[in-house]
Amino acid sequence: MRSSLLKSTSELLRRSRGYSSTANPERKVAILGAAGGIGQPLALLMKLNPLVSSLSLYDIAGTVGVAADVSHINSPALVKGFMGDDQLGEALEGSDVVIIPAGVPRKPGMTRDDLFNINAGIVKALSTAIAKHCPNALVNMISNPVNSTVPIAAEVFKKAGTYDEKKLFGVTTLDVVRAKTFYAGKAGVPVTEVNVPVVGGHAGITILPLFSQATPASNSLSQEDIVALTKRTQDGGTEVVEAKAGKGSATLSMAYAGAVFADACLKGLNGVPDIVECSFVQSTVTELPFFASKVRLGKNGVEEVLGLGELSDFEKKGLENLKGELKASIEKGIKFAHGN
Ligand code: NAD
Ligand code: LMR
Repeated sequence: MRSSLLKSTSELLRRSRGYSSTANPERKVAILGAAGGIGQPLALLMKLNPLVSSLSLYDIAGTVGVAADVSHINSPALVKGFMGDDQLGEALEGSDVVIIPAGVPRKPGMTRDDLFNINAGIVKALSTAIAKHCPNALVNMISNPVNSTVPIAAEVFKKAGTYDEKKLFGVTTLDVVRAKTFYAGKAGVPVTEVNVPVVGGHAGITILPLFSQATPASNSLSQEDIVALTKRTQDGGTEVVEAKAGKGSATLSMAYAGAVFADACLKGLNGVPDIVECSFVQSTVTELPFFASKVRLGKNGVEEVLGLGELSDFEKKGLENLKGELKASIEKGIKFAHGN
């Protein structure tokens, strides 16, 4: 789970100096919600990704300006902006990867589930359009509550007859990004060398970082440190929401995390071996139908959902504690998809 984005960016720089020779297949990436707080920096980062040949920026408003702006960057991806329902089909047509950061963010005092009433409908409509216009695309769901929006998309795709469990991903990379940063700071190890799997879901206690599996291993952390690191990772989103004091939630770190995950998906599609990231996917790792864990990515999306490995007693307890909330969130999404 190394930062492949950094590698991609340096590859881009090498190419611009004329060193690169490998031909990658043409890849179209669509961002839905591209004019938003996450959408704009994510559009920038995907424009910098040398694996992207076509970048489609869709939103209900504001994409003309964002697309004009990003399109001036001298990297290979061709950028087009699309706005409103009438242009959604064209925005999606031929996409290999669709990234969805559309919907409202939290304000202080809210849980991610408080966003359900607005975002569930947005995700349902966008998923319906994906089933129609690019049913084979890999879908990277960022919109919250991820624990419910992924099951909503799955049900929409099932109803349309296009569901492929290998192609639907809840983006939980920001939890991994945070766990790496917080662990490196506490353990005093170089942050770029750190790996920490984060499993479960993407809300509060459903976020379960497995610091017992962190590398490089650290002997200097006490059990109290592990408990504090776990809590900080679980509350990372809230930390940003409170710091932004009503002006939204994580956007820049999320754009980075979204770009890392999309880059991994593209590498997998292109046949690069051993691409492993954590993601919230259809799963048999636990009794829950969706669960975040390490996933090996390949030419068809999920190649293998990896198991949890050995857990500490603290992590075993965390795993049992998260199941009730995660199950309820999944069921809420499924029910919504059928009821509306
Ligand atoms: P934002 O309000 O800044 O941007 C959202 C964008 O979505 C806006 O531009 C809006 O016009 C657009 N939008 C609304 N309805 C749409 C529709 N039907 N089709 C297309 N676009 C539509 O919010 P943000 O800060 O970018 O956050 C977006 C979502 O991402 C929120 O739900 C937030 O909770 C979530 N989020 C998830 C993670 C994660 O780790 N998965 C991290 C951060 C934020
Ligand atoms: C995050 O983890 O930052 C996002 O899910 C946004 C939020 O509401 O916390």
